[in-house]
Amino acid sequence: MNLLVIGGGGREHAIIKKLRENKQVKKIYALPGNGGIGEDAQCVPIKATDVEGVLEFAKSHKVDFAAVIPDDPLALGLADKLREMGIPTFGPTAQAAEIESSKVFAKNLMQKYHIPTADYQVFDQAEKAMEYITQKNKYPVVIKADGLALGKGVIIAQNPQAAKEAVEAIMNEKIFGKSGDHVIVEEFLQGPEVSVLSFTDGETLRPMVTSMDHKRAYDGDEGPNTGGMGAVAPNPYYTKEVAERCMEEIFLPTIRAMKQEGRPFQGCLYFGLMLTEDGPKVIEYNCRFGDPETQVVLPLLKTDLLTIFQAVMEGKLSEQKVEFLDKAACCVILASGGYPKNYYTGLPISGIGDAEQMEDVSVYHAGTKMEDGKLLTAGGRVLGVTALANDLPGAMEKAYEAAGKIHFDNMHYRRDIGRRALSMRGE
Ligand code: AMP
Ligand code: GLY
Repeated sequence: MNLLVIGGGGREHAIIKKLRENKQVKKIYALPGNGGIGEDAQCVPIKATDVEGVLEFAKSHKVDFAAVIPDDPLALGLADKLREMGIPTFGPTAQAAEIESSKVFAKNLMQKYHIPTADYQVFDQAEKAMEYITQKNKYPVVIKADGLALGKGVIIAQNPQAAKEAVEAIMNEKIFGKSGDHVIVEEFLQGPEVSVLSFTDGETLRPMVTSMDHKRAYDGDEGPNTGGMGAVAPNPYYTKEVAERCMEEIFLPTIRAMKQEGRPFQGCLYFGLMLTEDGPKVIEYNCRFGDPETQVVLPLLKTDLLTIFQAVMEGKLSEQKVEFLDKAACCVILASGGYPKNYYTGLPISGIGDAEQMEDVSVYHAGTKMEDGKLLTAGGRVLGVTALANDLPGAMEKAYEAAGKIHFDNMHYRRDIGRRALSMRGE
């Protein structure tokens, strides 16, 4: 089989490595892929959001199955268009993807179907939003841009001044572009966060092993929010009891709601949850695999990924097992110093081979490129170093040992990925 995978980050690298394990897979085209994905697939320099370019490529090549991974091409309907061309494609329709691309849609869906989430109001005028915030007078308050904003469209304002600045930056200065036409003002929730990725064919839902993201740039959860600086799996806060509640109160109601709304969700549905004192609540939905979560979840997957993708799109997930290793995984993101703000690119990278020689260690490429046979940095998040072990402390130790073998100038990584999970267990 020839596969087409749309995207080019660490998450896509983890997906492609997993897809390669299927013996039927002959060739994988990655659009655009990256410097490291080039080892596992043929990279073609067509951007994931270049819908016409992707369709043109798919038309002129033999593609048996496609997977659209990132949020923006899904929101643009790329998966629908590939299917219209007759190519079986993993990924939700644009209509279903709105569960991520419009936070207003997602919040209204949860309200309508009584799915637990933070209380909120939607505004299309900055003054109205400020009036509401002033009247509520409860801080911190959470202010979110409606649309996609690279995972950075959420501002937690600690006082009236910060709230005012956030509303103005989103709605008037449009720091997130059109995503800021509407804002959501939301109650601040507290509790441990859990990421649950799931496979769903619209009827059946199979949760994957849970994970914990580390969104802030610096140790101790300080500094600006990023796309994610590391992850561990499984998430120790996610007990069996919590899992049962989530299935009954959140997961199944969500896929039923999507079906009811005429937007059945088929693909990977990501639940960003907060375990509050009042029970688990949805912080956000994503219509896709999370990054870096995928870099800890997929290495633990025992079942063949392509077979699951096919079962999802054929509506046969109820007949398909989805099994995970009873092990732990830790992924440390190596970023370019300065990320998520300004950072250098084009810096030579060394040591990946040494890291990968370690048993149960994988190095996934995010922002890398090959130039004249040299591997260079090409983004803020550069590499994800994942290690598996029998338990979390073992996985953390191994991931850090591997990360220590890799070098590029100005490399920055958090030294405490997984520590929050350990402290929960009293270690
Ligand atoms: P999101 O992009 O919606 O996942 O938000 C990014 C991060 O902001 C989340 O992972 C949370 O840590 C935080 N966050 C979002 N909404 C809330 C909320 N209502 N209360 C507390 N923290 C929040
Ligand atoms: N790591 C969070 C996300 O992928 O949105």
